[in-house]
Amino acid sequence: MSVDRIANARLRDRVVSAEAAAALIQPGETVAMSGFTGSGYPKAVPVALAQRIEAVHAQGLPFQISLMTGASTAPELDGALAKADGIAMRMPFQSDPDARNRINEGKLDYIDIHLSHVAQHVWFGFYGDIDTAVIEVSAIREDGSLVPSTSVGNNKTWLDLAKKVIVEVNEWQPAGVDGMHDIYYGTALPPHRKPIPLVHANDRIGETALRCDPDKIVAVVRTNGPDRNSPFSPIDTTSEQIAQYLIEFLKHEVAKGRLPANLLPLQSGVGNIPNAVLAGLAKSGFRDLSAFTEVIQDGMLDLLRDGVLSYASCTGFALSPQANETFKEHIDFYRERIIMRTQEISNHPELVRRLGCIGMNGMIEADLYGNVNSTHVMGSRIMNGIGGSGDFARNGFLSAFLSPSTAKNGSISAIVPMVSHVDHTEHDVSVIVTEQGLADLRGLTPRKRARVVIDNCAHPDFRDQLNDYFDRASRESYGKHTPHLLPEALSWHQRWLDTGTMKA
Ligand code: COA
Repeated sequence: MSVDRIANARLRDRVVSAEAAAALIQPGETVAMSGFTGSGYPKAVPVALAQRIEAVHAQGLPFQISLMTGASTAPELDGALAKADGIAMRMPFQSDPDARNRINEGKLDYIDIHLSHVAQHVWFGFYGDIDTAVIEVSAIREDGSLVPSTSVGNNKTWLDLAKKVIVEVNEWQPAGVDGMHDIYYGTALPPHRKPIPLVHANDRIGETALRCDPDKIVAVVRTNGPDRNSPFSPIDTTSEQIAQYLIEFLKHEVAKGRLPANLLPLQSGVGNIPNAVLAGLAKSGFRDLSAFTEVIQDGMLDLLRDGVLSYASCTGFALSPQANETFKEHIDFYRERIIMRTQEISNHPELVRRLGCIGMNGMIEADLYGNVNSTHVMGSRIMNGIGGSGDFARNGFLSAFLSPSTAKNGSISAIVPMVSHVDHTEHDVSVIVTEQGLADLRGLTPRKRARVVIDNCAHPDFRDQLNDYFDRASRESYGKHTPHLLPEALSWHQRWLDTGTMKA
């Protein structure tokens, strides 16, 4: 006999349909939802809300909300609400194509901030009140506490601050996830902050469930639907080469005595290149590794299974459908090795600095001096957002940025004279890796960095052009510390917009 996931009788009485719950959200509200990289987001209420918004719009009346989450969600949330023109303001990281188009058309206001900042900025009052929180959980315990599902994100903050709460209880999520979470209730606002008592990536410092005042819970909705679970593409040779360069570099750092044999806690962004790095680590001979990261993707589950990774701390998952099946099937094994935290803890600068994380993230482009653009194509068109990359790049022991050396069929160089948008300054970037090679920027002056970036990372099709720019800048620049030719510094981007190629 299956056990009712809603063990609290009072809250069982509040079960309603998704439509009835969505009807409790009013135009103009600030709505905070669960969800992080396609896991643990509410599956039914956002769709019902989008339908309601469309019906209201059909009557010629306005209806939009301001929407906050942990990070990106899925077509049923961001996609449905963006298509319905139901979002006035969105914060933070999102990656939905419909929302992205609306943002780039100037029709949807988007605020992209470091993921570790989201909770505290809301507590500081920068975003006003939260009217409604819509949170997916895997179960409600008898005492009314809420067992998170496959992401924690900002749920603690949303539940603490929202005036009213809608809970979705998703039976598709494995019941065995109970016990995997670690919700820390010791954060405070300055000047009352205390050190966070976490010194190892697998320390438990909190509770296994979320607290919520039951009087605030206005509706409970039962759901049974999967997380986004997009399949990964097979690892291509470019990603494999990038992964190999990075792994060789890590081995070199161990040999030099700058890293312990089992490295330091790994942070890995999502996507095919980070997944290739994880696959490469599986064959690398490294053992007893650990992760202090935001997202667990397929490669990390494999490393845990094979004992290469001893444990991992995260705030959410981004799994393929197959990996999700494995996760559910072996949930007891993974619960012993995975700790899910709120994103203010998974990305906390104090902890990332203390643990000495190794950050590995994708980028759009880097410049000669090591400034990195992770977010904007041609300086103005947002791709996704900064996510947690800045939390780890600024504060980690080492931060590596990874990308193919060209984009759009070779018409764009990922190494440019000056980045068209800066997310990570030259001061936060240790290593740049492309399929051409790896540039170790640590301890180098700007001019030495430029040489190593051109020689090791630029695609041969663009190397002469970069050398020509740098040589002339070195002679003619106003200052010789970080040489630039200002009229030319962004001309590569303009040339691509005008002609379809950065090639001169
Ligand atoms: N100029 C123009 N477009 C570029 C580009 C460049 N220099 N580099 C990449 N792109 C485009 C690609 O062509 C592709 O476009 P498409 O979707 O139209 O095909 C898209 O950007 C994604 O690039 P891809 O090579 O597939 O890499 P990716 O999936 O690894 O994404 C980022 C790269 C930078 C977009 C991604 O890593 C990101 O969003 N990073 C910021 C957030 C982050 O770091 N989070 C980490 C913690 S979870």
